[in-house]
Amino acid sequence: MLRSERPIGIFDSGLGGLTVFKAVRGLMPAENLVYFGDTARVPYGTKSQSAVVSFSREIAGCLFAKKIKFLIVACNTASSLALEEIKRISPVPVLGVITPGVRAALRLVPRGGRILVTGTAATVTSRAYSRALLAVRPDVRVTEKACPLFVPVVEEGWCSKPLAGLVAGEYLAAFRRAKIDALILGCTHYPLLRKVIARVLGPRVKIIDSAGATAIAAKLELSRLGLLNSGRSRGKCEFLVSDAPERFSGLALKLLGIKTGAVTVKRF
Ligand code: DGL
Repeated sequence: MLRSERPIGIFDSGLGGLTVFKAVRGLMPAENLVYFGDTARVPYGTKSQSAVVSFSREIAGCLFAKKIKFLIVACNTASSLALEEIKRISPVPVLGVITPGVRAALRLVPRGGRILVTGTAATVTSRAYSRALLAVRPDVRVTEKACPLFVPVVEEGWCSKPLAGLVAGEYLAAFRRAKIDALILGCTHYPLLRKVIARVLGPRVKIIDSAGATAIAAKLELSRLGLLNSGRSRGKCEFLVSDAPERFSGLALKLLGIKTGAVTVKRF
């Protein structure tokens, strides 16, 4: 098999990374993709750095065994806490979601603008977004807000229930008067709550979802490395989880319209 025909590996703690999977699939339909959702251990956002590093190493190892050509860490928590370690052990190029999200946000924010970063408790505590944003644009003002209940709401499939709006209001209503220019959805689960979040903050605030930006960054990098799959047929997709495969495929269809087919269980 040509190196360019090998799959791209994508992983997250659960369903959230499917927002990145979908963007990659849309932008590069010829690519073969293998997705891993760590459904036995979701959420990552409440865990320690050593736990997230160890889970990420295990999943990356499982994807390396699938002979992937490129790895996308479609999880902000793992990108914040474990990216350096994954890069260190990886035989293939690795892309996290933070840098593409930061670039997308900074294109939309004026000089001295205000950015609100939402994410898991672990991502916010790491201050990975603040550091990345301020390293490129020291003029912007960044506030980070942990929204830990968003992940369980998504994993329960409750994105359009009134409860989702109540939770979003509880976390974000206080920012309505803060003259925020942009809000970064700093967790790959959050795009599934985009509508309710936008409703709380109002139409003036631009909402940045790193999934599209990550797919574009991946395509540029694959092309730069001569690794783009130039085949004409649609690539194959394979899904793995660490538990509850039927639940995963049901929610993938319900929330994202993704037909997974049979999902393999890999336990650690
Ligand atoms: N979707 C992940 C993220 O982007 C993980 C959420 C979680 O498992 O807590 O951070």
